[in-house]
Amino acid sequence: MDRLVIEGGRRLEGTLPVSGSKNAALPILIATLLTDEPCVVENCPTGLRDIRTTVRLLESLGKKTKVTGSVVRVESTGSLKTQAPYDIVKQMRASVLAAGPLLARFGLVRVPIPGGCAIGLRPIDIHLKGFETMGARRIADQGDIIMSAARLRAGPIRLRFPSVGATENLMMAAAVTPGRTTIKNAAREPEIEDLAAFLVRLGAAVSGAGTSTVVVMGRAKLHGARYKVMADRIEAGTFLIATAAAGGKVRVAGAEASHLTAVLAALKKAGAKISSGKGWIEISMDRRPKSVAVKTSPHPGFPTDLQAPWMALMTLATGFTKVGETVFENRFMHAAELGRMGARIAVSGSEAVVAGVERLSGAPIMASDLRAGAALLIAALAAKGRTTIQRVYHIDRGYEAVERKLARVGARVERVK
Ligand code: EPZ
Repeated sequence: MDRLVIEGGRRLEGTLPVSGSKNAALPILIATLLTDEPCVVENCPTGLRDIRTTVRLLESLGKKTKVTGSVVRVESTGSLKTQAPYDIVKQMRASVLAAGPLLARFGLVRVPIPGGCAIGLRPIDIHLKGFETMGARRIADQGDIIMSAARLRAGPIRLRFPSVGATENLMMAAAVTPGRTTIKNAAREPEIEDLAAFLVRLGAAVSGAGTSTVVVMGRAKLHGARYKVMADRIEAGTFLIATAAAGGKVRVAGAEASHLTAVLAALKKAGAKISSGKGWIEISMDRRPKSVAVKTSPHPGFPTDLQAPWMALMTLATGFTKVGETVFENRFMHAAELGRMGARIAVSGSEAVVAGVERLSGAPIMASDLRAGAALLIAALAAKGRTTIQRVYHIDRGYEAVERKLARVGARVERVK
């Protein structure tokens, strides 16, 4: 299994390019199930395991795919299957997003219930309740959920929580359900806007994406489309926080400042200088970070996916910092590993208190999930000495060629097979 070996303590200088967004590409690729016509999805981070798993999911459901660089072409081979295989769903929870398109098009879908994962229980009740509101019936059978409906009905749906996945699943189902579906208390993440733009290319009418009320005017039949996925705001945020921790001056190319408002505000408070223009954000940091408390919440709040990276930065801050997690119930696994590098963190329920130290020191550590892995990488870049990170496959789920990208800004990161 791969390990990353990092020689820390070097300033980062130069330009870091961001890839296409994993969390936008996933639902967009799955939305190709809504049409039998060919679709071409550009700027997909095809080096990531989750994107390759999504391509396998599409194939297992009966699509033909071709991956060329960052472009994925999806074509029909005839009929689609309505059953998602367990060995794919257990690898990638986002597979449940296939339920919306398949149920809406064929009146039937069978998906394994994804189990919990390292960051929380992650039930799918909001997705299922939404389908029921649209007229589907649900039965559970041997760990699978079977949903059926002679025909889904368009209409009003209110979510009990603005779940990103449930909003996407319901938007896709609504896109092929003739009539007007209104999703209230919808998630407002930029990835929702990207999916909406793709659905519009397919021929649906969607308005309000990015606000808490999304309106979809569905059509019985959608056509094919070509689409370019947005840049990955979480990868961009990770690179900015890494520069703040290690010190230096880095331009993150491809990033959109409007997608990272809460994070950029926190970085400025911590003492970083930030400038931005169309398609780039630049950070420069030449001091020890000041402590800045954050509490995660759905967009436009501070993103849960950058909570662990932020905690890594705050381990080096002057003074005490509170870090609160409100989106997932168990997303502090990085705290103990950061402790192995000299960080002082006390976790209590959904809050952590970090007492900043002047220096972290390199140590052998282990990633427990994707963003926890990113936090360890940031700490390692800033630390004195050598860090070895095990279970790098977690980091590889969300960061394409991370060691090659970081090498461009002067980091010493080596992958050892
Ligand atoms: C998406 O997950 C992202 N994944 C996550 O990215 C991200 O952390 C999350 O949104 C929040 O921003 C993808 O886009 C593929 P949710 P998703 O449904 O859709 C609870 C990363 O590191 N909930 O908004 O699964 C749930 O348990 C990842 O890239 C229910 O209770 O997130 C969680 O506590 C990990 N019932 C909260 O809502 C439901 O039916 C937010 O989940 C659905 C969700």
